[in-house]
Amino acid sequence: MSNRKYKVAALAGDGIGPEVIREALKVLRATEDKFGFQLDVTQAPVGWAGIDEAGKALPDDTLKLCRSSDSILFGSVGLPDRDPTIPKEERPERAALLALRKEFGLFANLRPVRLPTELAHACPLKAERQGEGIDMLVVRELTGGMYFGQPKTTETLDNGETQAIDTMVYSTSEIERIARVAFKSAQLRHKHLTSIDKANVLENGVLWRDVVSKVAADYPKVTVEHMFVDNAAMQLLLKPTQFDVVLCENMFGDILSDEAAALAGSLGMLPSASLGVTNGEKTFGFYEPAGGTAPDIAGKDLANPIAQILSAAMMLRHSFGENEAADAIDKGVGSAIAQGLRTGDIFNAEDPQARQVGTTEMGDSISAAVST
Ligand code: IPM
Ligand code: MN
Repeated sequence: MSNRKYKVAALAGDGIGPEVIREALKVLRATEDKFGFQLDVTQAPVGWAGIDEAGKALPDDTLKLCRSSDSILFGSVGLPDRDPTIPKEERPERAALLALRKEFGLFANLRPVRLPTELAHACPLKAERQGEGIDMLVVRELTGGMYFGQPKTTETLDNGETQAIDTMVYSTSEIERIARVAFKSAQLRHKHLTSIDKANVLENGVLWRDVVSKVAADYPKVTVEHMFVDNAAMQLLLKPTQFDVVLCENMFGDILSDEAAALAGSLGMLPSASLGVTNGEKTFGFYEPAGGTAPDIAGKDLANPIAQILSAAMMLRHSFGENEAADAIDKGVGSAIAQGLRTGDIFNAEDPQARQVGTTEMGDSISAAVST
């Protein structure tokens, strides 16, 4: 029996979370048998499911499980229509998602955006703008900037007005460590890095540009370009093929990664990894699809499980170093797409090769491809 054993906390959360996690676990089981490692998976509630089962979005037992695990496979949390009266600090987005990012120091968020040629129809850009295919990696800083900077308050002023304050803070070391993640990723890809900032207006932007330029000296094979965030938003639509690795602070990365995601046809295709510092050989990671809970289609076998399945592959790669198994999942997804299997979000009725399938059938097919 293999001594490669990994402990995974599986937190399905709300909406489509449970059904897409189910398919990802199915595919993971197939890799386990084939590549000879063992996954010790424990499921626990989070989000509204946590509130319903244990009174809070991140129940104590769930947090305890995460602390004793090697990684977290996460579904999605947040249901906009549930109880608008619950205080904002207790809502799943803040109390579970942001809390977990902070708790585990998950400063590096990797969001690969890829438009497979078979899905060119799902991209909102004309074919000539898609070039040879869209393929970029957004590297987003995840534990700093305006999301966490203090002060963060809403106050009533003497004149009766209400004033809200969010603070953008970055220190050199925070910029440097995320820049190194981006440069290392670029070295493994097409060796081009676009660093995003707003150095023409923000102090943070000036520091960001300065630190990234200094770090660049350690990665001479990578070409660096600095781009203002507003221009980057435009360039993503005009010429998305110019990007390889895109490095952003937290808020800019949030916005640009959604824009980039739209280019890949469907949020249902986009995985993500959020990584903490590497300790010896081990990198604790949090793996979640970029899309949300999609409550309108939840429980109907309509959701696209691919983002969750690719997130599981990222977990095998980045936290466990099981690269062959991760490659097998990536290939399995590619072959399901090549065979014409499409969930509703990526279905094109005019494509004679395409066949619309449900969440379960997509998962079955990918898991079968992994096993063979
Ligand atoms: C994301 C999400 C989160 C974020 C929300 C749900 C807090 O939009 O992961 O991109 O803003 O980071
Ligand atoms: Mn977002």
